[in-house]
Amino acid sequence: MRQKIVAGNWKMNKTLEEANILASEVTGMVADEVKGDAKVIFCVPFPYLLPIKNQLGNNARISVGAQNCSEHESGAYTGEVSAPMLKSMGIPYVILGHSERRQYFGEDGKLLAKKVDVALKHGLSPIFCCGEPLEVREANGHEALVKKQVEESLFHLDADALKKVVIAYEPVWAIGTGKTASAQQAQDMHAVIRKHLASKYGQAVADTIIILYGGSVNAANAKELFSCPDVDGGLVGGASLKSRDFTEVIKGA
Ligand code: 13P
Repeated sequence: MRQKIVAGNWKMNKTLEEANILASEVTGMVADEVKGDAKVIFCVPFPYLLPIKNQLGNNARISVGAQNCSEHESGAYTGEVSAPMLKSMGIPYVILGHSERRQYFGEDGKLLAKKVDVALKHGLSPIFCCGEPLEVREANGHEALVKKQVEESLFHLDADALKKVVIAYEPVWAIGTGKTASAQQAQDMHAVIRKHLASKYGQAVADTIIILYGGSVNAANAKELFSCPDVDGGLVGGASLKSRDFTEVIKGA
């Protein structure tokens, strides 16, 4: 059985005070109300990593993640944050290749392969995002594109390294639009990704890889999405910014 994960991607939202309140409300609700053993990750803006991590203390269920890191380990890269820095702060996860990074910051598959490598080298688990824009889905190119994204940035890894990667399938047309992929669409793509992993690493390895769905996950649709056999939880944007909504999403896992 693969571990279920529900990760909240806070993106560039919240003041420090609001962030503290959100984290503490979710922590309380999860402790009081959420059964099962789904793991929860708050992927917070860089400045909030330590405050939120310290607030969580030794919480066994909830951890923190960053939303990006540099492909470089150190040096004259003003404004960047490195994987060794994250590691030194005890941060276990980092989102890499989010479609917003690909779209607004020009990150491509080759660059992301470097980021994946540097994250793994320093003991971080990448949450690697892939997903197609609307026009690609409409032209029926979605499976080929997502397979290519996975190949370009992950297929150079050996099996042991791959097992530390969490994959998040996030169709771009479903992000922040209120349009969710149907459970069937999500399941179909997750199965395609897993089959593609199996073609390179074998079925046994592919079966261990956690694949999250992201794109307008909310309290109403989480349970159905997370019940699909190849959907191992979610990467949640908007609904992770409200404690009640996020808690309900977590309950779906
Ligand atoms: P929404 O849940 O707001 O659609 O965002 C999804 C996302 O981008 C998570 O990384």
